[in-house]
Amino acid sequence: MLKAAVMGYGTIGSGVVEVLDINRDLIAERAGQGIEIKYILDIRDFSGTPIQEKVVHDYKVIAEDPEIQIVVETMGGVEPAYTFVKAMLEAGKHVTTSNKALVAEKGAGLLALAKEKNVNFMFEASVGGGIPIIRTMLNALTADEMEEITGILNGTTNYMMTKMSREGLEFADVLLDAQQKGYAEKDPSADIEGYDACRKIAILTSLACGQQVDYQDIYTEGITKVSAVDITYAKQMGRAVKLLAVSKKTPEGYAVFVAPHLLSPEHPLYGVNDVFNAVFVHGNVLGDAMFYGSGAGKLPTASAVVADMVGLARHMDCNIPVEWKPEKISLLEFGKIKNAFFVRTSSGREEIKGVFGTVDFVDAGVDGECGFVTSIMAEAEFKAKAAALDVRSVIRMGNQ
Ligand code: HSE
Repeated sequence: MLKAAVMGYGTIGSGVVEVLDINRDLIAERAGQGIEIKYILDIRDFSGTPIQEKVVHDYKVIAEDPEIQIVVETMGGVEPAYTFVKAMLEAGKHVTTSNKALVAEKGAGLLALAKEKNVNFMFEASVGGGIPIIRTMLNALTADEMEEITGILNGTTNYMMTKMSREGLEFADVLLDAQQKGYAEKDPSADIEGYDACRKIAILTSLACGQQVDYQDIYTEGITKVSAVDITYAKQMGRAVKLLAVSKKTPEGYAVFVAPHLLSPEHPLYGVNDVFNAVFVHGNVLGDAMFYGSGAGKLPTASAVVADMVGLARHMDCNIPVEWKPEKISLLEFGKIKNAFFVRTSSGREEIKGVFGTVDFVDAGVDGECGFVTSIMAEAEFKAKAAALDVRSVIRMGNQ
């Protein structure tokens, strides 16, 4: 019987315990032996509950117990998760985490430490919840150079965009609804400002290029400026607004950014609705592939964590190499990234043509303004030109 510990008994941590219970026999068969949770680290006591005997408050109890071979980190945030995970790896324990903030910031160092200690650091659940995108990139797509990874990587914002589109609601009303349904946090900024998606695309790009991608270097625009009028124009164009995390390998460097996009039905991510996530990839020999599923939620995310535990159980005596060097890669400067832009403006058509040349006008019947789509140009060029107009909103075009 393998002994394990869970650090953080919140939604995901309790989901891990539940999944190990629901599929106990199957998991034991696949792992080669049963997995038993010996400790649960949390600041709470959970008195009177079935887990109370397992609860500990000091991470050193786990680090110093030679029986513990696998540690699950589901606390979230960089600290104290980093201190605890580092201590576990240093003590020779295998670790799996669902914590994207930890992986994006400290992933390269923790992988190096795991290698040094001949254990493993896994993080499937940190991106795309239950979608096995990390294992796929590390194991299945090893023949390819990944030329593009574009994802809907945040379920909350995808739910909100879908609801705004279906019901014609304003952003604030949809946010309230998402909070009432438990999708958006009381402080929703990590989701709606795009920070969550930013860390996830930083992790996927790091795996694609084998080097450190700093999330702080990624231009990130959330969905807070998307309005019901924008959606009216989107519908007029037959498009859907989606928050995309984009990572493309260009001859000048990796172009990585997070922003709302207008997608036409031909785009593979167009039909990804509600809280679902999807990751579209293009490999230089594979071509296109897409991975779709539950990007968040207790059991789907716990499923990914427990699958990591089974993977760890199968590799108790060896380190599985993961290429993610700590040396930072320089991303393509945001101003040089090329896009086509949809713009709403109160400026007149002649003025628009004078600034942007030939554009495609979009008439959605909104008084006192017009919409238009530019040709493809660099972000810096667009910014300079748009400054000459009275711009009400801008959304990038996902495909032509
Ligand atoms: N808040 C995240 C989402 C949870 O909505 O996708 C998973 O990281």
